[in-house]
Amino acid sequence: MNEKIITYKKLINDEISKIHFSDKPKNLYEPLKYILSLKSKRLRPTLSILSYKLFQNEIDNIIIPSISLELFHNFTLIHDDIMDNADLRRGKITVHKKWNKNIGILSGDILMIYAYKLLEELSPKISGKIIKRFNEISIQVCEGQQYDMNYEEEDSIGEENYLKMIRLKTAVLIGFSLELGGLVANCDKKTTKILYKIGEMMGIGFQLMDDYLDVFGNSDFGKKIGGDIVSNKKTYLMIKLLEKSDKDDLEKINEIKKSKDEKKKVNVISELMLKYKINRITKENINSYFEKALKKLDQIECNLDNKTLLKEYFEKIMVRVS
Ligand code: IPE
Ligand code: IPE
Ligand code: MG
Ligand code: MG
Ligand code: MG
Repeated sequence: MNEKIITYKKLINDEISKIHFSDKPKNLYEPLKYILSLKSKRLRPTLSILSYKLFQNEIDNIIIPSISLELFHNFTLIHDDIMDNADLRRGKITVHKKWNKNIGILSGDILMIYAYKLLEELSPKISGKIIKRFNEISIQVCEGQQYDMNYEEEDSIGEENYLKMIRLKTAVLIGFSLELGGLVANCDKKTTKILYKIGEMMGIGFQLMDDYLDVFGNSDFGKKIGGDIVSNKKTYLMIKLLEKSDKDDLEKINEIKKSKDEKKKVNVISELMLKYKINRITKENINSYFEKALKKLDQIECNLDNKTLLKEYFEKIMVRVS
């Protein structure tokens, strides 16, 4: 990773560790300190900083708002792991498995409130606009998460519905991460809209990659491989598999879907995915979304060195393993 980006990530982690959370009740605050301490990419705040740097040099003003996004993201992760019944997050045991579901719900809630609390520090000139957009985005994330769960029970989802679902649950927040950089840097409306679109496009590619790594990743991924298959998630890979399978394989899929033998289920489905080259199809689609995002970045007039830095970061994220 580029040295500047390593410095930004360190800055983000330092600032997060400076946030004062109370000590009592212990089982309210320990879980959120725990999730924030686990190794993560810090993608969203890094994107906000890199976006801000396209227009302004001194990064002081963007740090706190960017961390607000990271806290919000961590809240969604705690709740997502309850909803997805996940055991592993960032290579460690999930909050609701380490403590319990009620603790997961409440510590997630308070983390979200802390995310908004950080926005109290925004200058009055821009706070209204930012809070309005943040609220719109948060509502969309919840909508996406509900579609994600609804689709576990349905078989004929199709690519269009899938794309709508991941746009909501994941891409809008990544879009907003870039938009936030522009808003804090006082960019015009046209520019902040393009920034949002770039992030949204990248966010779709990012979630496609998440789906890919859920099947074809290794232990670096930090989540249980095959978790989406076990919980009948309609990921891009599953949708493509259902679309391409012949009659016999479709029967096989329907049969194994009901199996309680998780290992067998993951093996059978991932073998079929390889048979129909779903891994390759998914990778091509990931690349095409990242390419589109990179291309759109050319529409932004800004500091060229920092544009190259953002492009470099996109390229690193595109080939990530965790
Ligand atoms: C995981 O987000 C949830 C998705 C939207 C796929 P990240 O992959 O950014 O997770 P961390 O924050 O680096 O752990
Ligand atoms: C999660 O999607 C999106 C949000 C957390 C809002 P996933 O359920 O695929 O995320 P992971 O794979 O558990 O990180
Ligand atoms: Mg999940
Ligand atoms: Mg989920
Ligand atoms: Mg996932």
